[in-house]
Parts: sequence; C-alpha cells; structure tokens
Amino acid sequence: MSKNSDIKIYEYDAVIVGSGLAGLAAAKELTEAGKKTAVITKLHPLRSHSGAAQGGINAALGKDDSTELHEFDTVKGSDYLADQDCVELMCTKAPETIRWAERMGAVFSRNEEGNIAIRPFGGQSQPRACYAKDRTGLTLLQTIYEQAFRAGVEIFDEWYAADLLYEDGKVSGVAAYNIRNSEPAIFNAKVTMFATGGHARAYRFNSNAHANTGDSLSIVARHGLPLEDMEFVQFHPSGLGGSGVLISEAARGEGGRLFNSEGERFMSKYAPNAMELASRDVVSRAIMEEVRQGRGVGKDGQSVNIDLTHLDPEIILTRLPELRELAIAFQGQDMLKEPIHISATAHYSMGGIPVNINCQVRKNPRELVEGFYAAGECSCVSVHGANRLGANSVLEALLFGRHAGENMIKALDEGIELRKASASDANRMIEEMHKIKTSNGIETVPGLRTELQNGMTADAGVFRSKESLERQIALIDNLLERFNNIRIDDKSDTYNTDLQEALELGHMLEFSKFIVVGALNREESRGGHYREDFPKRDDERFLKHTYAYMDKDFNITQEWGDVVLGKFEPKERTY
Ligand code: FUM
Repeated sequence: MSKNSDIKIYEYDAVIVGSGLAGLAAAKELTEAGKKTAVITKLHPLRSHSGAAQGGINAALGKDDSTELHEFDTVKGSDYLADQDCVELMCTKAPETIRWAERMGAVFSRNEEGNIAIRPFGGQSQPRACYAKDRTGLTLLQTIYEQAFRAGVEIFDEWYAADLLYEDGKVSGVAAYNIRNSEPAIFNAKVTMFATGGHARAYRFNSNAHANTGDSLSIVARHGLPLEDMEFVQFHPSGLGGSGVLISEAARGEGGRLFNSEGERFMSKYAPNAMELASRDVVSRAIMEEVRQGRGVGKDGQSVNIDLTHLDPEIILTRLPELRELAIAFQGQDMLKEPIHISATAHYSMGGIPVNINCQVRKNPRELVEGFYAAGECSCVSVHGANRLGANSVLEALLFGRHAGENMIKALDEGIELRKASASDANRMIEEMHKIKTSNGIETVPGLRTELQNGMTADAGVFRSKESLERQIALIDNLLERFNNIRIDDKSDTYNTDLQEALELGHMLEFSKFIVVGALNREESRGGHYREDFPKRDDERFLKHTYAYMDKDFNITQEWGDVVLGKFEPKERTY
C-alpha cells in the first residue's frame, strides 16, 4: 500500500462521481462554463446504467397533454409522497429538456407528421414518453457523453471513489483509487457531486447492471449523514422470468397484455380502467399475487405471460427490436410468435441521498451540507415519492443533473472556497482496502452477497411484513458480523476485482439495512412499499419523509421530514 507521501492530490473546481446522464449533464454544463471539472467513474461512461433505460423520457408534448397533467400523474403515481415543488420544476422544464437533448444531437423516433413520437406508459393519463426505439437511455447517454467530452471534461474512468472528504458540515472532494493498479489519490474540489445511480443489485431478481451496488449511499451514511425514504424500492412488472432482465414498459405501452396460467387477463381484477397501464407498483403486486395464488407460468410457476402476438409485427420490429432480441437470447421466446414469461424485478430506488430543489445535499431535514450536490437515482429530491412513473427517471437524471451543474456553477461564481485536502484524507480508504486484502477468514464475498440478495427478495420485496422484515434485519446483522471474517483470493494491485467486489458488498450490506429498517418503521402501505400487516396508506402518521442515520455499529435511527404539498390534495389512488 502507498505511503502518504506517494498520494497524488488533484485539485478541481468540481468533482463528479458517476458518469450516467445526471453526472455527464452536470459535467457538460460546468466544463462549458469554464470550470475545471473531473468525472470519476468505476466504468467507462458509455457503460453507465443510464444506457439501459429502454422505453422513454417523459415530456408533455401531446396535443391533449399539459405540464399540469404530467405533474398530477407524477404526484398521484408517487402516492402523494413526492415534493410538489420539485415535481412542478421537473414537469414544466421537461419539454425544454427534450429540445435541449435534441439540439445536442439525440435522435428521437418520429411520428408520421415528423414530430417526436410519444408512447403511453403506466400511470399516465396521456401518452408522453418520447423515445428512440427501445434504446432511449443509450441514445441520450451517447449524446451527452459526446458533448461533455467535446467541452473538455476530464474523465477518470475505472477509478473507484471510496470515501468522501467531509468535515465540519463541508465536503471538499473524494478519496479514490485507480482500479488498474490500486493507486490511491485525493480529488480535492470546491464543489462535489454524487451521481452514482441505483442499487437494485441488493436484490436477487433485479434489472440493474452489475455496477449498481449503491456505494455512494453508505459512503455518505458512514459520515453520519442521512439517507431519505430508502424503504421505497420499485419493482418493475416486467423482468424476464428467472433473470430479471428488463423488458421495457414500452411493451405494455405498445399494447402488450398480461395473462395468468388460466389464460385470464388478470389486470381487470386489480386495475379495471388502466389495466396493464396502471402504475408499476400496482401491476407488480398483481403479478406476484397471481403467482402466490398458484396461477403462475414457467418451469417454476413464478412468472406470468406478456402477450404481444396480436400486434402488427412491424410495431415490434421497429419500436421494440431490442426487447425481442433480449427475450430470444435469455429465454428462447420470440414475442412475434408467442407470449413471453415475465415477473416483477427490483428496478429502481425512489429514496437516496436527500437533496433540496437545487440538488444540495441535506445534513438533516433542516440544514444543508456545504459544497455537496447529488442528482439522479442515488439522490432523493423527491420527485418520485413512494412510486416512480416509468420514463420519469431518465427525465429526472438529465434535468436535475443539468440543474445541479447550473447550481454548482453559481456556487463557484459566488466564490465558494477550496478547503485544502491533505494526503491523510486517504487514510480511511487505504485502511479499508488493507483490511480487506489482509483478512484471512473463511467467508466469501459471493457467498455473503447471495445470502443478502436472496433475503432481500424474499423478505423485503414486493410484499413485506413485520415478521419478514425482522428476519431480514437479523440476517443483515449476521452478514455484517461475518463480513469481518472474509477472505479474498486475489491479493494483487492489478485490476483487483475481488477487492472491488468486497468493498461493494460492504456498501450493499449497510444501505440494505436502511431499506429494511425503514420498511419496518413505516407501518402503512404506500406506493412500492406494501406491508401485508398494514395494507392501507396512513396519511395521518406517515405522510412524511424518512431520514435515517447510521452509527459506527450499524445501528439505524430515524426522524421524519415534511413532505412539500401543493395543488394536489392527497386522495385515494385508483387506476
Ligand atoms: O420500462 C422501461 O422502459 C423503464 C423505464 C424507466 O424505468 O423509466
């Protein structure tokens, strides 16, 4: 391991961790404004998980649509937990964001009149998902990457950000190491942003990339800062049965129908008006209920069918080509000819690092951290509340990423100062790496990770209860204990993926505890959080955001924060 004197200290105006849509949108703005900006990412930017977003990005462009209707659908979809000032900002700026992306070079699919095509998505009263076939996220990611690169942003790819430089309520960069050779460095900055994406890898069935291990959440929490609304995890209705690989909601938006093993189009029982296009939480629960009642399909009876065979094949071939290929590759099922097996898959986190409307990280519900910003899925702004509408995440990432960039520029122009880092700021990261490499215990990283993921899916998944959640907390505590007794085989400094996976597992165990404790304390059902023992929403006790804090022994304490209400009064939600 390096001595302190070997540690390089880089200095920047802005350091951004994460290179998906949110991170790159901020980086582009900052760099174009002449701010010296570095992006640190454990992947190549074009492998960021934003590129996996298939179905669309919402904006009220249709002739019968309005930004107010978009706001209403978003707030209703959130089960009234979203902060309505942030929702208003997002929905009113959505059309302009699409134009911005288009001007940068994003090629959207078109309708016959030559306008940007829009398709229906779940929980929305009008079609408003703009798309690029079923590769919307990839199209946008390539565009924003090109533009950030053109502006001159410095990208440190295959670098792992392992710690935050945080002292006296102020952040001044991160400690990171180069995955190629384990060389540590300090990235000292006047403003720092986390845009690290999601963390559904904590679940066995999930739609997320391998990299989505939620590192930044516990990095923040280890400094005594809060995480918000972590109990709200979105289960997407259509993951390929068995693997969880995403089959976009666009499949239902284009007309796909759901059937159980008895050939019943079962959504008529759960959402008689919206049917397959009810919100994701409703459709996922319906699918899992059919499976629980023994009406599942597939070898293990754990899936239902989505049928697109009644559609004009041209629709599948031109608008859903990637979905078709995925189903053929993973399941040998061709959606042109037969229904395919799908099941609910952990997909998205509504909660995360709490931020205000300007993407500044909160120290608690009342105070902000200086010099620290977050946007995209790792953050909780909160525009999604308890359940996100499909195609609002790509919008949130792009729009709030750009907005964070603009706010960081403002802070820099106002003269926010650099607090000089020293080499010793890397100590905590170096000690963590050293401890993992030298630990010679009997536990393995894949072994512990599998136990965590199986438990999360079984006991903190679509259906939850006091009993299942207490069982999962006990499991996580046991895994945290056993994590001290791991052994990795690779002790080298070169592309040590064993080391990286061990660091990631440490994070997964810690933030998972926030999910489960939050779910236990929230004795109601709202959006993606469904308690079998408390099946009703309880606005009196729980129309509140959860702020949770972790101590050094992994105990979690909680306080509540206010929800920003607005023109849409909470009502019962039906589809
Ligand atoms: O189904 C999808 O295409 C996913 C989109 C989203 O999560 O917003």
